[in-house]
Amino acid sequence: MRTEYARDGLDEAAAGDDPLALFERWLLDAVNAEMHEPNAMALATASPDGRPSVRIVLLKGLDDRGLVFFTGYESRKGLELTANPRAAATMLWHPLQRQVRVEGSVSILDAEESDAYFGSRPRGSQIGAVASPQSKVIASRAVLEARIKEVEQVFDGHDVHRPPVWGGYRVALESVEFWQGRENRLHDRLRYVRRGHGWVRDRLAP
Ligand SMILES: Cc1cc2nc3c(=O)[nH]c(=O)nc-3n(C[C@H](O)[C@H](O)[C@H](O)COP(=O)(O)O)c2cc1C
Repeated sequence: MRTEYARDGLDEAAAGDDPLALFERWLLDAVNAEMHEPNAMALATASPDGRPSVRIVLLKGLDDRGLVFFTGYESRKGLELTANPRAAATMLWHPLQRQVRVEGSVSILDAEESDAYFGSRPRGSQIGAVASPQSKVIASRAVLEARIKEVEQVFDGHDVHRPPVWGGYRVALESVEFWQGRENRLHDRLRYVRRGHGWVRDRLAP
């Protein structure tokens, strides 16, 4: 299993000074390439004693303030973020031979922003968010399905409200690295680190 990467390059002139603009361009390229779940990202958190954990979540918002995703606040990641509000995220766009890595501190989204996103979700997902105690041990699938039925009855004929244990987080863009695969493993890596109101850009060895 040895793939050569020769599709594209990433030089400083094309990358520019603003990592957000480049991130948005690459995300759009991934969407336009019609790959499956172009907004999927691996999200790493860590317990206060430094034990890392990682899982996939979907990127639901991107602007100068950071990356937004939605989840259970009492899930494993949620509890880790409460105790240690820092995260790293990686997106892989394999057909484009590209990876982006972000690191930064994490904050909870305003209730209004979480409400707005929750309101836009399909009803089945809303019911699921209310019914599922994310990351907790459950006795069986049947227990979960019974819980879904119960919640469906509670909200029968009504809008489903966002439960307080479910909502969004934002990972600040403190460091953003772009990786473009190149021939002979001599890949391009450009890393932007926030300094004051601007960014310092460095090229890293592959
Ligand atoms: C493609 C994909 C997208 C996912 N998106 C989300 C998401 O946006 N939010 C979420 O809470 N879990 C999402 N999951 C499930 C998580 O990977 C994970 O199982 C869950 O969040 C519990 O993680 P935790 O126990 O580490 O907190 C997704 C899984 C996959 C494979």
